[in-house]
Amino acid sequence: MGENTTGVFVAEIKPTSGCLGGNSTKKYYLRISKFWHEMRAIQMVDLGAQYEKIGSEIDNAIKSVLVSTAFIKGPDVKLFEEELQEYMGVKHVVSCANGTDALYLAMMVLGLKPGDEVITTNFTFIATVEVVALLGLKLVIVDPEPGSFNISVEAVRKAITPHTKAIVPVHLFGQCADMESLMALANKYNLFIIEDAAQATGTDYLFKNGTTKKAGTIGHIGTTSFFPSKNLGCYGDGGALYTNDDTYARKLRSIANHGMRVRYHYDDIGVNSRLDTIQAAILRVKLKHLSKFNAARKAVADLYDEAFAGCHSIIIPERVNYSTHIFHQYTLRVRDRKRDDLKKFLESKNIPSMVYYPGPLHMQEAYGYLGYKENDFPVSTTLCKEVLSLPMHPDMEQDQLDYIVHNVLEFFNK
Ligand SMILES: Cc1ncc(COP(=O)(O)O)c(C=O)c1O
Repeated sequence: MGENTTGVFVAEIKPTSGCLGGNSTKKYYLRISKFWHEMRAIQMVDLGAQYEKIGSEIDNAIKSVLVSTAFIKGPDVKLFEEELQEYMGVKHVVSCANGTDALYLAMMVLGLKPGDEVITTNFTFIATVEVVALLGLKLVIVDPEPGSFNISVEAVRKAITPHTKAIVPVHLFGQCADMESLMALANKYNLFIIEDAAQATGTDYLFKNGTTKKAGTIGHIGTTSFFPSKNLGCYGDGGALYTNDDTYARKLRSIANHGMRVRYHYDDIGVNSRLDTIQAAILRVKLKHLSKFNAARKAVADLYDEAFAGCHSIIIPERVNYSTHIFHQYTLRVRDRKRDDLKKFLESKNIPSMVYYPGPLHMQEAYGYLGYKENDFPVSTTLCKEVLSLPMHPDMEQDQLDYIVHNVLEFFNK
């Protein structure tokens, strides 16, 4: 690998052996047996490549908002909500400023009070737990399943007390938590379910009776984020809530806009959490492409799976039978404490990778007040040492994928 005379990134790709098993040996040998190969620099998420493809649609959408000057609550916001409602198969989509606010608003609307216990996973982005803490609710964290990375239903069951009021499953990395079992628990103990679907826009949950629902539309309220790198991302911050309940929807709309249903009349104590019209206009463009983008991510995941399945140093991400997977992240587990060395090796080859998440939440300083001990959550503690997410986005090119696969396998064959 090195720089060629024009300064374009180039990579030397040679056939490898060892970890490559069966068909994939042949496939990758044939495809990568070129000598020097020009390649676009690899990124975890390549929003530039996406813009190269849909840029003119995006530019037109932004321009129309600039011309209209309807920057706050312009027509695109309502149209986007309606189009997302249709895509999600849900009665109400209420847009807001970001995915963290969406969680916050959900907990406000459900009337959770200081001291009420909220159970969520120890293996998620910090937003899921910080809103619980900010509202003065009692945060109860539990371990995930090691295979799916999603909250363990058994651990939730054990954590339920007479003070429990809500469960917050996170559909991590693009695959649903076991919603049917969680809903059964919620019904039995009269609990709310708030689904954090920030990483799962477009994932289908498959019920035992053969029906499907989109992630985020199964519990009482679902939340999502349109952070730029999300599967449906805008060009700044954005978020939304999903619900089939008219009362929750009315109250969410009010609280997200200063508690105001009629102009300058305040029915609720609210906040300013609105989706900008420009972001809504961008999201309307991107929503049209979402199914295609998600399918492209799955094709990347299929290729990674096939290439790594025979390598016993790697555990490929589990695909559960009750959910599709939209691969917001493609996250491997690396055995034998080799994760950090693999990451460094890939870095040396100009291949980015990320650790989502490097430290279990219960060991973060800010959450020390919860009084958990280091060994309380063995699964999340182990996952934090083993997980590694590889580049994953809809615009990955075949030569980039070949190069990544080759180098991951090369590391284990050294
Ligand atoms: C699981 C999860 N929940 C919540 C959030 C918060 O979303 P936002 O960054 O839009 O506030 C994120 C996003 O980063 C997330 O991944």
